[in-house]
Amino acid sequence: MELTGVMASAGSAAPPASRRLPTSTTMDRSTLQRWLRERDPTRLDALFAEADAVRHAHVGDAVHLRGLVEISSHCRRNCTYCGIRAGNFSVERFRLTAGEVVECARQVAAFGCGTVVLQGGEDPALDVGWHSDVIRRIKGDTGLAVTLSLGELPPTDLAQLRAAGADRYLLRFETSNARLYARVHPPHQPGEPNRRELLGRLRELGFEVGSGVMVGLPGTTFEDLTNDLLAFRELDLDMIGIGPYIPHPETPLGRRRGPNPADQVPNDVATSCTALALTRILCPRSSIPATTALATVSPDGRALGLRAGANVWMPNFTPPRYRASYEIYPGKASPRHDEIAHETVLETITLVGRHVGRGPGPSPNFVARTSVSAH
Ligand code: 5AD
Repeated sequence: MELTGVMASAGSAAPPASRRLPTSTTMDRSTLQRWLRERDPTRLDALFAEADAVRHAHVGDAVHLRGLVEISSHCRRNCTYCGIRAGNFSVERFRLTAGEVVECARQVAAFGCGTVVLQGGEDPALDVGWHSDVIRRIKGDTGLAVTLSLGELPPTDLAQLRAAGADRYLLRFETSNARLYARVHPPHQPGEPNRRELLGRLRELGFEVGSGVMVGLPGTTFEDLTNDLLAFRELDLDMIGIGPYIPHPETPLGRRRGPNPADQVPNDVATSCTALALTRILCPRSSIPATTALATVSPDGRALGLRAGANVWMPNFTPPRYRASYEIYPGKASPRHDEIAHETVLETITLVGRHVGRGPGPSPNFVARTSVSAH
């Protein structure tokens, strides 16, 4: 595979003194914002190389595989960017049986992943008892680490899921701009805890905690994206997912034709990789995936992400007949993402000079903070 675009000339020139490469301590707000606006491919390649070196030093050369199983496309919410929002009547809905989820987890383990990620919309038909039973069966059968990505659940449910054996939880805050967030993410019930509060609860419950944002969500300024990156560090996240926003034509935001702010962040590959690289430098010990969204907007997306600071890959293990229905954005289930059949996962990891991680692969950030609190 040939790497094209912004990575093509990696390592060819040093940045001028005015653009010295940042470290986590020198990375202040204005430096971050300058880098996010950077368009010079040579300077960007130097930044990606720096992030890659930070990645090597702090989390090593293993790429941890997390097998993704999309368990339900039913969702009670109406996020304006998301293709499985309740108001989209043109998407087919599916829900796996508990037995199907456990079978997928067995395939995840057989492939060599150390973790299974159970992701779904906020499906009222799947209650905490159902999820707890599935988690116990997966842990009993496979010993995999279990990551949940099930949206905003009541804190009492989260406690039960933790007790059932769930190890990690992913809940992106999507944007740190509160007004923009309120516009794209209508509340379900008044007074329910917001995502930032839930991230705190998850941490208290002992979960390894992940969050993240979409890059270039309409209405996002460079100042907002800078705040997003600073929030990752502030929240001391163990896992950070960053991918470009991809318009979905069956959503209000995807159909919107209004003007964007003058300072709108582009939802392109270069800006997403820059945000990823800066995140690696700011949060050196976190797990950071090369996301499917990145792979959807560029055929080299996974390799670009892995070379700009990422150390995780989440191949899709949803049964193929359901994949197209879990269309949170278009192009996600394209055949080129059928990585299991094509074995491109292992090929790409080898191509970028890395190896597959063994075992559950918790982030060093989580290991360090939990072993300190244990004493
Ligand atoms: N484009 C890119 N990412 C999206 N997500 C949801 N909709 C889109 C979209 N249109 C991301 C959100 C969510 C995660 C599961 O998928 O960040 O948290």
